[in-house]
Amino acid sequence: MSAILEVDRLVKKYGDYEAVKGVSFSVEEGEVFGLLGPNGAGKTTTISMVTGVIEPTSGTARIGGYDILEQPNHVKRINGLVPQELALYPTLSARANLNFFGRIYGLRGKELKERVDDVLHVVSLAERADGTVEDFSGGMKRRVNIAAGLIHQPRLLFLDEPTVGVDPQSRNHIFESVLRLNRERGMSIIYTSHYMEEVELLCNRVAIIDQGNIIALDTIRNLIAMLGGGVIQVGVPQADQALVDRIAALPAVTAVELIAPPVAPPPVEGADVEAQEREPLAAGPVIKVLAEHSQQAVVNVIGFLNEENIALTALQILEPNLESVFLHLTGKKLRE
Ligand SMILES: Nc1ncnc2c1ncn2[C@@H]1O[C@H](COP(=O)(O)OP(=O)(O)OP(=O)(O)O)[C@@H](O)[C@H]1O
Ligand SMILES: [Mg+2]
Repeated sequence: MSAILEVDRLVKKYGDYEAVKGVSFSVEEGEVFGLLGPNGAGKTTTISMVTGVIEPTSGTARIGGYDILEQPNHVKRINGLVPQELALYPTLSARANLNFFGRIYGLRGKELKERVDDVLHVVSLAERADGTVEDFSGGMKRRVNIAAGLIHQPRLLFLDEPTVGVDPQSRNHIFESVLRLNRERGMSIIYTSHYMEEVELLCNRVAIIDQGNIIALDTIRNLIAMLGGGVIQVGVPQADQALVDRIAALPAVTAVELIAPPVAPPPVEGADVEAQEREPLAAGPVIKVLAEHSQQAVVNVIGFLNEENIALTALQILEPNLESVFLHLTGKKLRE
C-alpha cells in the first residue's frame, strides 16, 4: 500500500489563535480514515487546508504524491470534497446541480449524463433526480452534496460531518454509500465526525483531534486497547470505601469507583440498547472496576467477593469504546 495523503505539519493561525497546531498524518490508498473530535477541534480547518479551500499558515500536504501548494492542478483531479456546509443551488433540481458541478470538471454530453446518473444512484436519489433541492429534506440535500463531490470520480473523498442534522434513513444511505464506494471502487475516504459510533462503524484507522492537535492515531482496536483493558461493573447489596479500597488492591485492577444507585449501565454494542437505558444495572450500589485485564480482574473480583461472603447482585463487563478513549485522553466528553 502507498499513501494517498500525507499531511505534513500543517498549521493554521487566525491572528494569534492557532486553530490547527502542526498536524501530521498519512492515509493509505483504500483506507476509510476517521478524523474524530469535538466541535472546534480543527477538523474542518485541516480538511480545508488539504483541499485548497484555505491556505495553510505553514506546512503542506501531498496527495497522490503531488504537493498541494506546488501542484494544485494535479491534486484537484484526485480529490473530492463534500463540505460541512451545503454548497447547492436550492432552486435547481438535483440533476441540474450535478450537471453544474460536472461541467466545472470539464464533463460534457454523454459522459456528463452517465456520471450524473451514476452519482445519483450512489446516493440512492435516482428517483428524485428532477425534484427541486429546496423541497428536499435535510438528509436528501446532504446526499446531493455528496453526489456533487463524487462527480469527477475522485480517488480520495473528504466527507466533513456528512450526517449532522440528517434523518436516520438518509444516515443509513450515507453509511452504505461510504462503504460501497470504498469496497467496490477502492475509493479512499476521510470521514470527519464527532459521533464515535459512526467512526467505529466505518473507519479502519482514526485520528483523534482536540484543540488543534492530533492526540491519538491508530486503528480503533489499538486505541481501545490503549485503555489497557476493560470496565467491569458489579452490583453488591452494600458497599463502603473500605470495600472499594480492598477491591482496588486486587491484581489486574487499575481503579475502582463506587456508583450510588440507581445507575443505568452504558449501552453495550449489539445488545438491546433501549432496554439497557431503561433498566439500572442493580437496585443497590454498583462498583465500577477499571481493569488491566478484564477476564483476570473478573476472576479476582468475584473470588474476593465470594471469600468475603458478599453476594453479587449484578455483573456486567463493558468493552471500552472510542468515547472512553477520548475521555481518558482529554478528561472531556466528545459531545458537550
Ligand atoms: N475563519 C475563521 N476565523 C477565525 N477562527 C476560525 C475560523 N475558522 C475556524 N476558526 C476557529 O478554528 C477552530 C477550529 O474550527 P473548525 O471549524 O476547524 O472545527 P471543527 O473541528 O471542524 O468543528 P465542528 O465539529 O464544529 O465542525 C474553532 O475554534 C473555530 O472557531
Ligand atoms: Mg467542522
